[in-house]
Amino acid sequence: MMQQAIKITDSIFWIGGNDRETDLFEGLWELPRGVAYNAYFINDEKRAVIDTIKGDKLSDYMERLVSITQDGGGVDYLVVNHMEPDHSGSVSIMRRLYPEMKIVGNKKTIEMLEAFYGITEGLIEVKEGDTLDLGRHKLVFAGIPMVHWPESMVAYDTTEKVLFSTDAFGGFCALEGGIFDDELDMSLYEDETLRYFANIVGRYSAPTQKAIAKVRALSPEIICPAHGPILRSDPMRVVDLYDKWSSHVTDEGIVVVYGSMYGNTKLMTDAIARAACEAGIKDVIVHDASRSNLSYIVRDIWKYRGLVLGSCTYNTELYPPMATLCRALKNKMMKNRALGICGSYSWSKGALSELRVFAEQGGDWKMVEPNIEVKSSPTEADLELCRELGRNMAAAVRE
Ligand code: FEO
Repeated sequence: MMQQAIKITDSIFWIGGNDRETDLFEGLWELPRGVAYNAYFINDEKRAVIDTIKGDKLSDYMERLVSITQDGGGVDYLVVNHMEPDHSGSVSIMRRLYPEMKIVGNKKTIEMLEAFYGITEGLIEVKEGDTLDLGRHKLVFAGIPMVHWPESMVAYDTTEKVLFSTDAFGGFCALEGGIFDDELDMSLYEDETLRYFANIVGRYSAPTQKAIAKVRALSPEIICPAHGPILRSDPMRVVDLYDKWSSHVTDEGIVVVYGSMYGNTKLMTDAIARAACEAGIKDVIVHDASRSNLSYIVRDIWKYRGLVLGSCTYNTELYPPMATLCRALKNKMMKNRALGICGSYSWSKGALSELRVFAEQGGDWKMVEPNIEVKSSPTEADLELCRELGRNMAAAVRE
């Protein structure tokens, strides 16, 4: 028995696959609950496939596609909404299996098809607002550049009001039986959707805002993203979340991240976290920069209004895991958040000064005083300064 296509409407089917074997998405981001690569088939006078799948998941995709095309009809069009290989990785084999099939993309897609796969023929270039007529279904294309790559686009079926939204409105987590939002407890997907947004799409928040405006104007009844559940009972729920996150609207709470070799910096951040809690902040999340996967730290920082970074000095510089985090946060171009910093050293300063540089150059951070620098191990006076920072952070993030 083979994998089967799953019906979305009478003529639109899910032909994607789940990946529970890949440990790190993009070689970076942990996937404890897997990820789904969604692709779709539209059955009409002309038959279209929306996107392919990561190469090592080809069998699931092909079995589902064959299950719905076993009458012998082929595929007339392959629409490539996004060229990242988690979606385009099987374009070459599709071209070989269906040599008459036209591959549909925009100018940048077509450039990337040649660069990735050497494909230069059998292509249809579409521009903003162009329509692909399948018979009953008409697909209209709109660019959503940088959500997540420059060629990213959406295809909107005006007949059934179905939006194929590529990475936009997607999330981590395999589809565990249910594939529709009304078949799942969506609250269980929210953390993994935020972790996906923060780490994959978040840097491109301004383009995401433009994409959301386009999508709201279309008023789709069903949203079919490239990852995560298909949104049919409440299609705007995840759009609204993406809107909040890409607008840098944050929740009351403080993320405390420490980099500590022997526990002295951790003493400082523990005192900060405790004081913030005593000042009434319930959501205080503490991460050890050496042990929490970066993706979880970035997710939590994206969610909450306050961030405290505490780092020891290592070889006269910022502790390496903290340097990695600061570099990642600078890349994300986050806004509207409060930042407290503290550092320690023994024989050479370094950590606090680098955290100050990050505060000035690493995004739109509002510094909360005091900055605290400790030699070797914090004294009671040092810890009282840490408690003061914790109380000030609480005041800065309170709603
Ligand atoms: Fe799911 Fe940017 O690829």
